Amino acid sequence: IAKSQVYSSTDGLLDFDLEASYRPVNLGGIRADLLAYNGQISGPRLEAKPGDTLRLRFTNNLTQPTNLHYHGLHVTPTGNGDNVFLEIPPGEALTYEFTIPSNHPAGTFWYHPHLHGLVAEQIFGGLAGLFIVRGELDEITEIKAAKEEFLFLKDFELDRNGQIVQPSPMARMTGREGSLVTVNGQIKPTFSIATGGLLRLRLVNASTSRFYRLELENHPLYLIATDGGSLSEPVEVRELLLSPGERAEVLVRGEREPGLYRLLNLPYDRGGMGMMGRGMMGRGMRGGSFTQRNPETLATFTYSDSIASLPLPQKLIPVEALPEPDTVRRFEINHGMTPGMGMVFLINGQTFSPNRIDTQVRLNSVEDWEFNNIGVMDHPLHIHVNNFQIISRNGRASPYRAWKDTVVVSPGETVRIRTRFADFTGKTVYHCHIFDHEDLGMMGIMEIT
Ligand code: C2O
Ligand code: CU
Ligand code: CU
Repeated sequence: IAKSQVYSSTDGLLDFDLEASYRPVNLGGIRADLLAYNGQISGPRLEAKPGDTLRLRFTNNLTQPTNLHYHGLHVTPTGNGDNVFLEIPPGEALTYEFTIPSNHPAGTFWYHPHLHGLVAEQIFGGLAGLFIVRGELDEITEIKAAKEEFLFLKDFELDRNGQIVQPSPMARMTGREGSLVTVNGQIKPTFSIATGGLLRLRLVNASTSRFYRLELENHPLYLIATDGGSLSEPVEVRELLLSPGERAEVLVRGEREPGLYRLLNLPYDRGGMGMMGRGMMGRGMRGGSFTQRNPETLATFTYSDSIASLPLPQKLIPVEALPEPDTVRRFEINHGMTPGMGMVFLINGQTFSPNRIDTQVRLNSVEDWEFNNIGVMDHPLHIHVNNFQIISRNGRASPYRAWKDTVVVSPGETVRIRTRFADFTGKTVYHCHIFDHEDLGMMGIMEIT
């Protein structure tokens, strides 16, 4: 199996070429015609450090326009930075260049296309890759001693000829999912863990719409980082829900009997566009939904050798408490019907317009945003450039502080997040990370001045 290509920075510069093109790819033994970055699924892994400059010469060899977004990075949204308003026509090239601030947190980030209207199709086709920032968190002794693995979760749907299946109108409304679930472009790969050792898993949900409710059999997970980097201390969890766009880093202790342990994706109901929605038809019985009824195996973990027992870290990197907000905003999340247009997805009653500023914020201010989902499906809401903390869910305070850039808001829920707009002015976006919903309108523009 071909190992993923890695580009690391040298002397403060991450300098390389990236190409998007159509490629036949071996996807777990199946020959699939996909969209790939540099011919690989997943795309090359990028590794940088705080303070580094990225120079990425991007070539679009697709037959449709595309662009790049650096999901979760706190970098400029203007110029040739993380600017999602850029559009690279077929056959053309563009050099992205930006600097990662020297105080940027270490963490697991990723990159993918972001051209409104085509995002779901291009990500579902295979375009996405990891972007790792190595820093303070990676220097903690116990974390340094852990064995690192990347788990890039991505689903595909192929027909008999290995072609990507086009979604039905219903699948677009719900958010397209594929039945072929891959981890790093492989089907049910095996990872090894040493008895006594620590495993550090960096998990990314790079799927267009599929949620993952993860459990590793007989092993508690010690959450050490979320979307935006480190927690203050490890938090023990039994399972982990990752909606599209979300990341998590967990430690696993090699403390069980040697054997085979499955990484499971447990059933989860994210709602759907059935006639009645959630409720009237009962959970898991909605038309046009993708409710998964049985746990499925994503990967297996086996014990290899045994090493001197490694402890868990006690303390990680402190997560600061943000000051009280200067402004509180409310966003109502819903779907709707437009005469002739079919289903659309709405933020405060509006679909995306590139010619409208929906939210005007001030640099260096702290804001609370309240997302109220009055629809029938979960929406993982994502904000570019500035990370946030979840303050409360239906009025219940978050159990711990964590940096996030994507948060699931379920039907009937009100989620309050807090963010500080720091360092960068310019226009950027916030949207649902089920990319079919984003393409069908669930995105707004904010301008930071
Ligand atoms: Cu990963 Cu605007 O998205
Ligand atoms: Cu993003
Ligand atoms: Cu959505």
